[in-house]
Amino acid sequence: MKSRQPWVVGVSGASGTPYAAAVLRGLLAAGESVDLVVSRASRLTLLDETGISFRDAHWREDLAAWLARGADGKPDTFDVSDALDDVRYWAAGDLAAGPSSGSYPAKGMLVVPASTAAVAGVALGLSKDLLQRTASVTLKERRPLVVAVRETPLNGQTLKHMVALDEAGAVVLPASPAFYAGATHIQDLVDFVAGRVLDAAGVPHRLYRRWEGELGGATPRSD
Ligand SMILES: Cc1cc2nc3c(=O)[nH]c(=O)nc-3n(C[C@H](O)[C@H](O)[C@H](O)COP(=O)(O)O)c2cc1C
Repeated sequence: MKSRQPWVVGVSGASGTPYAAAVLRGLLAAGESVDLVVSRASRLTLLDETGISFRDAHWREDLAAWLARGADGKPDTFDVSDALDDVRYWAAGDLAAGPSSGSYPAKGMLVVPASTAAVAGVALGLSKDLLQRTASVTLKERRPLVVAVRETPLNGQTLKHMVALDEAGAVVLPASPAFYAGATHIQDLVDFVAGRVLDAAGVPHRLYRRWEGELGGATPRSD
């Protein structure tokens, strides 16, 4: 039997919970297994941005509600029914959780969105919660780590932390949507960033239209 080898997705308390939902949907649609860590602070942004109160004890139903919601507030077409079977949830305070050890068979980690606090914590190796510990483990094991920073403007400290992460082998990926892919909805902009996160992880997807070398080639979608 093939052993389970998940991507760890760490959701920290920066604005941008729709980015996390889009990455999670993309991973599950690609047939990837997911281990999910939701920081304490991200529950505030999730509540603010979606109205969902995320609870450890009811993570499955709260995650289902989150993934079923598009960034425009409309239902997403993603079918969550069976997809959540490939998700394993770990409480952010559980420092004995599987992903806290380098011997846990994770493929790598995607921190999306990444707060400046998470960027600092990972750059400095603080491991103050499971998200930061898992990111440090990912670096020490030389596995892919993608950090989708969401803050603007950036102070010098955060810029230095981002350089430290880059030098440690992480992909620092600002949550910075582009407009050349023909976006007409907020979800298109979200999917562009989520698609770039999946590109950095080498996970196939069809979340955005790729640049094909022609100016004006990205005509808006008709729906
Ligand atoms: C509504 C709301 C929006 C926030 N947006 C951001 C943000 O975009 N970027 C950021 O770095 N921090 C943001 N924060 C602050 C972080 O949540 C805070 O620094 C927290 O300590 C991050 O902790 P974590 O990295 O453990 O999740 C926001 C906080 C709230 C309540």
